[in-house]
Amino acid sequence: MTIPSRVFSGVQPTGNLHLGNYLGAIQRFVALQDEHDCLYCVVDLHAITVWQEPAELRHNIREVTAAFLAAGIDPKKHIVFNQSQVAGHSELAWIFNCVARMGWLNRMTQFKEKAGKNRENASVGLFAYPNLMAADILLYRATHVPVGEDQKQHLELSRDIAQKFNNDFAASIAENGFGEMFFPLPEPLIAGPATRVMSLRDGKAKMSKSDPSDLSRINLTDDADTIAQKIRKARTDPDPLPAVSDGLEGRPEAANLAGIYAALAGTDVPGVLAEFGGSQFSDFKKALTDLAVEKLAPINAEMRRYLADPAEIDRILADGADRASVLAEETMGAVKDIIGLIRH
Ligand code: TYM
Repeated sequence: MTIPSRVFSGVQPTGNLHLGNYLGAIQRFVALQDEHDCLYCVVDLHAITVWQEPAELRHNIREVTAAFLAAGIDPKKHIVFNQSQVAGHSELAWIFNCVARMGWLNRMTQFKEKAGKNRENASVGLFAYPNLMAADILLYRATHVPVGEDQKQHLELSRDIAQKFNNDFAASIAENGFGEMFFPLPEPLIAGPATRVMSLRDGKAKMSKSDPSDLSRINLTDDADTIAQKIRKARTDPDPLPAVSDGLEGRPEAANLAGIYAALAGTDVPGVLAEFGGSQFSDFKKALTDLAVEKLAPINAEMRRYLADPAEIDRILADGADRASVLAEETMGAVKDIIGLIRH
């Protein structure tokens, strides 16, 4: 039995959606929707693996939804929803808690980073986070997952879980008519010039929602003046931009700004350097500001428009959850048959 291609990805509603989330993920979600069936999910259950203020969480769920819609994701053609409205995510995650091994999760670098020194005090959910992520993807038997570079290890774990499930239950999978494998091994789609957008203050640190300095990132809610100010203050080195990519070696801030420009312009880094090689940063930053404002201002305006009507956002999420649940229940029924549970 062949499994049809299907795209799934998720974004956490943890506030401060930034240019890295947009260029590494959301902009690419939009590009994939012409050729694939897509599910785009606001992963609220992932967000609560660390403390969230209830009122802020509710706002942030709507804000990520607004960003999806404002960026151009079509909620009628595709499925836009939030994770906690589809019970199958938690159910399948529990089953995967029983498939994944402690040793696999112990190797996850994001857990180590997020838990920090105080591991004993981290939530159990934070440790099991990658199992829930595998459940998100495999609940829809999705085949392709567009993400930024930082999710690569989690995607590898999702593949390991899918493979172990397929192996452990091989006989039952065949008996139930699914052939040799039930879950596809999901492929990460990590491509383009902005798979790892770096902080504007430090070219060696990832642009992140949790950086205490707001100058380190461009938020999707920033207005034109704020974007201009942040780009003007972005750290650079004293040399002009090189004409070819080799010249970016050892110059992480220059490489970052060139990558951001390329992703916003829909071109690649060599193309940007062909145009701006030899330019001083003062000139390049002006061009980058104009481009960033041109691309982000309409998204910003649309986000505000959506957020002014939260009931409409909630209606879109409920409709998405209804449609996602139909697919989820089909998978959960089959999973229960395969592992020997009795369906309701
Ligand atoms: P999250 O919410 O941290 O980030 C959402 C997406 O943005 C990408 N991203 C970046 N890309 C480029 N440069 C950056 N500086 C940058 N920062 C973030 C992330 O790679 C991601 O694609 N665990 C996921 C959410 C998730 C998920 C899933 C993703 C839950 N279930 C299933 C895919 C499939 C996360 O924390 O993303």
